[in-house]
Amino acid sequence: DDTKAGVKGLVDAGILNIPKIFVRPAEDLAAEELNSGHKNVEVPIIDVSNIGDSIRRQEIVNEVKIASGEWGFFQVINHGIPLSVLDEMIEGIRLFNEQDLELKKELYSRDSAKKVKFHSNFDLYTSETVDWRDTLQLTFLDSDPDPSQMPSVCRKSTMEYFKHMKKLGETLFELLSEALGLQADHLNSLGYSKGCSIVTHYYPPCPQPELTLGVRKHADAGILTMLLQNHIGGLQVLHNGQWFDIHPTRGGLVINIGDLLQVLSNDKFKSVKHRAISNHIGPRISVACFFSGHASLLDKPFGPIKKLISEANPPHYEEFLLKEYFAKFFSSSLDSKPPIDY
Ligand code: SIN
Ligand code: FE2
Repeated sequence: DDTKAGVKGLVDAGILNIPKIFVRPAEDLAAEELNSGHKNVEVPIIDVSNIGDSIRRQEIVNEVKIASGEWGFFQVINHGIPLSVLDEMIEGIRLFNEQDLELKKELYSRDSAKKVKFHSNFDLYTSETVDWRDTLQLTFLDSDPDPSQMPSVCRKSTMEYFKHMKKLGETLFELLSEALGLQADHLNSLGYSKGCSIVTHYYPPCPQPELTLGVRKHADAGILTMLLQNHIGGLQVLHNGQWFDIHPTRGGLVINIGDLLQVLSNDKFKSVKHRAISNHIGPRISVACFFSGHASLLDKPFGPIKKLISEANPPHYEEFLLKEYFAKFFSSSLDSKPPIDY
């Protein structure tokens, strides 16, 4: 039953030494390469205002293309989502995690079929070590969220946030299509911007942040991830063998290419490893919106986009079924080998 109190439960109990299961192997924690020699290099920040202007749009598409191919990550600013919507989303998640434990426990589950659930480390029983965070997961693969299923403290803010994510998601999938040299509606019309889950993380302050991670090194399994984070920071991306901080930008959203978009793009875009370090201060709160494709795609063959394939550019991947891919992903641990080779 203690497990249901999550990581926050440990902090609330006043522990000074973190339990062994949270201690990462030393090589995972290495930070000496952090940004060394690259003080003025940052994950690209792309201003998407004026996207309707055809000259500016071409520049934005080019920035998206470079960022997606070289970093696999970028931040977008001036995307038109009001700051109040972002702030209220973060605040709703804070309230959910800080509410009465009994109410939170009612949503505790590890059942993959459950659309709304609270837990700590989805791979708690399949991984040797786990991370310093609690998670509230809202999965809506085949339909829009049903407000009646949402926890009441964050219902209104999440519904509003979701609406904006869908819209910005479609815009980004247009830019990504154009960056691949395809018609703007290509990825949207195939259903890749559908099927979205919102996974929110609450990283309590950690008494020994040098021994554990908020999220260990991994790449995202889905198509595209859009991430909102509060001001604490800790997200790092691996670039040319070094860890780079992704500094929280007020109003900014972090976008990253998932494994499946790397496959669709036949390696034109890169799915890049990232992690979140833990911190003495907190809570850090993040909200990831994962696009993984419309449910109707689950039993269709999935592979590189045919239009990107030619004799000079043969496919780097064989086709597979998304259903089997996700089944493998959810039954293994976050740091195990991904379901496809790349
Ligand atoms: C993740 O990559 O899964 C979470 C990243 C974050 O919380 O910043
Ligand atoms: Fe991730």
